[in-house]
Amino acid sequence: MTRARALFVEHQPLGMWTATTVDESSGKAIQQFTLDDGPGRAATGSELKSIAESLAANLGPVDAVIYLADHAAGPKDLAPRLISGYPLPVWVIHPAVAIASTIPLQHERFIVVDFAGGGSAMLLKRGAGGAIEDLMECEGDLRRHLSRKSHRQEIQNDLLEDVVGASIPGAPVAVAASTGFVPEPSLPQFDTIFAELLHDLEPMLGVLQSFGVDAAVCVSSLFASEHAAAAFRNAAGLTGDARPLRFILSTGEERYGGALACVSAVKRSPGVWFAGSTDRPTFSLITERRVSYEVKNVSRHIFDLDDPTLATLLDGRETLAVVDRTISDRYDAALSAYAARHLNLVGEMIIDATEVSKSWTLVEQVCEQAIRRGLGREGVIMAVGGGITLDIAGMAASIFRRGIRYVRVPTTLVGMIDAGVGIKQGVNFASKKNILGSFYAPFGCISDHTFLWTLPRRHLACGISEMIKIALMCDRRLFEILEANVADLLGSHFQEPRVAADECILRAQLAMMQQLQSNLFEHDLRRWVDFGHTFSPTLELESDHELAHGEAVALDMALATAIAVRQQVCDRSVLERMVNLYRAATLPVSDALCSSEVLKPGLRDIRLHRGGNLNFVVPTDVGDGIFLQDIDASDIDGAAHILADLEFALTGT
Ligand SMILES: NC(=O)c1ccc[n+]([C@@H]2O[C@H](COP(=O)([O-])OP(=O)(O)OC[C@H]3O[C@@H](n4cnc5c(N)ncnc54)[C@H](O)[C@@H]3O)[C@@H](O)[C@H]2O)c1
Ligand SMILES: [Zn+2]
Repeated sequence: MTRARALFVEHQPLGMWTATTVDESSGKAIQQFTLDDGPGRAATGSELKSIAESLAANLGPVDAVIYLADHAAGPKDLAPRLISGYPLPVWVIHPAVAIASTIPLQHERFIVVDFAGGGSAMLLKRGAGGAIEDLMECEGDLRRHLSRKSHRQEIQNDLLEDVVGASIPGAPVAVAASTGFVPEPSLPQFDTIFAELLHDLEPMLGVLQSFGVDAAVCVSSLFASEHAAAAFRNAAGLTGDARPLRFILSTGEERYGGALACVSAVKRSPGVWFAGSTDRPTFSLITERRVSYEVKNVSRHIFDLDDPTLATLLDGRETLAVVDRTISDRYDAALSAYAARHLNLVGEMIIDATEVSKSWTLVEQVCEQAIRRGLGREGVIMAVGGGITLDIAGMAASIFRRGIRYVRVPTTLVGMIDAGVGIKQGVNFASKKNILGSFYAPFGCISDHTFLWTLPRRHLACGISEMIKIALMCDRRLFEILEANVADLLGSHFQEPRVAADECILRAQLAMMQQLQSNLFEHDLRRWVDFGHTFSPTLELESDHELAHGEAVALDMALATAIAVRQQVCDRSVLERMVNLYRAATLPVSDALCSSEVLKPGLRDIRLHRGGNLNFVVPTDVGDGIFLQDIDASDIDGAAHILADLEFALTGT
């Protein structure tokens, strides 16, 4: 396979242009040509492109052309810019940026003093990601600062070589010296020349240094000679009043590698990019998907005729409502009156929210309704109900016409703090819990706490279970508020004490959304919010859904915490606090299903779901946890015993 080659085209002093083929993997030059007919100094993008094409045709196959051209890149283009893609990607990059990219990352602000041609000095600043994000051309012509204006008549590429030549007439320059044919100037001669040169440049360097730079990168081909480099370093150390400025010497050869690195960094950002050979390229598309949605907590009942929140969100769009049957039984009159006044409801589908009905078939039925009601691309599917209703309606919204707007109105505590605030939906299939699903952000979610008035206590407790999950992993204060208030909260359907009720719901929503935000699509499979969700799917299925989701989560969390105590990564007091909280919240601590015989087989599926790792979340303290990668049968059974003993000690049963 031939190696990828890039063609670098660069402007040299005195109007010269060169073209250099460079091995893309090593950044080393292969062959260099002088261009008789180079681009004009102010060539436009399309001119550069056509010159690139004719060069490529004449010089043999190359995979990309990169112009190192300050005029075409301009100080605003601090990353390489793709001028044209077909048939050959043509890039332009500022030469100073290419060189600066080879400087160690710890230097954030530095000057690049380039001795090419008349010489120039630039101030560069690196951004947080390491890329150059600011470039200021401070002075375009160093020669102006030099006391000895004379310079050689013959064409030189490098001001330093010129200065050396001018100082010692007839002195061979480093490039010649490095061939070994002619002796270089002696070290003392170099010392004197460079001391004078830096003395001349001192005022300019002083001004640049006052901008707070931490290094000066000096670029000259002369530094290819160790001799010359040592002399320059020596002189740089001597001049100035104990100048703290660090001098980094560069021959400039690194610019090819630097430019290629910049190009490949850009190719990881949004765009359509080329890789491989130009006759059989690989095109890659990169885009960033912005996800944004709001979870609004409202103070009035959502169907209060005077409350505009839902009407504003739906904004007259055609809406298919998918409503939990219990909610419909209790709130239908309010919903119908509100819809008549404010909404454009094309249909209402009432569903039975059970784990058995949470199936693909029900998703199909919602889609059929959407078709029958003529719901268009701009339409909305609105779910009103608990986690089951949200999962079903969300799943349908995510696939109907490849995705239409989806609005959530959670009516359970689980819905308000968990199912309603993320972007996941799932349905049960082939005897597996939530095995089919999608990541699909809602258009909006409105959380009306007054729905909790009618929610049976058992389901309130399930919500508390998900609250304990987030509290134990991420929010110690939430755990403490629950400890102090849970019986009252449960007894009053989260109405009393008012402050604690609101704080619990809002803290749980916020902590959950914070956990999701940086890992919304679960690229990182180590998730704190998976606490309580390892054994729970098996418990739900094995109990024939006698155990509600939140109850299964509670049992799972208790087992996990007891395993942590057994493995001595968590203090027993945490488990005791947890069990006390469970009892006040009427959540189950143990169950006959909590045995290795029942639960061990399910771990295989969990590993499949978590990319091969178990990532079993256990608490180490209230508000903190770790991931365990291995648990065996004795861990599960031992933990079940600890829990049974603890329950017996607390209740005597
Ligand atoms: N997609 C997610 O991110 C996510 C997160 C958590 C849970 N879930 C799923 O959610 C489901 C559990 O959700 P849930 O706990 O909200 O239960 P649910 O949807 O089963 O509702 C519980 C019961 O309460 C009734 N109900 C709902 N609101 C009511 C109200 N205001 N007044 C009276 N009765 C009411 C329902 O009819 C149902 O009988 C599980 O299937 C779980 O897998 C999904
Ligand atoms: Zn859950």
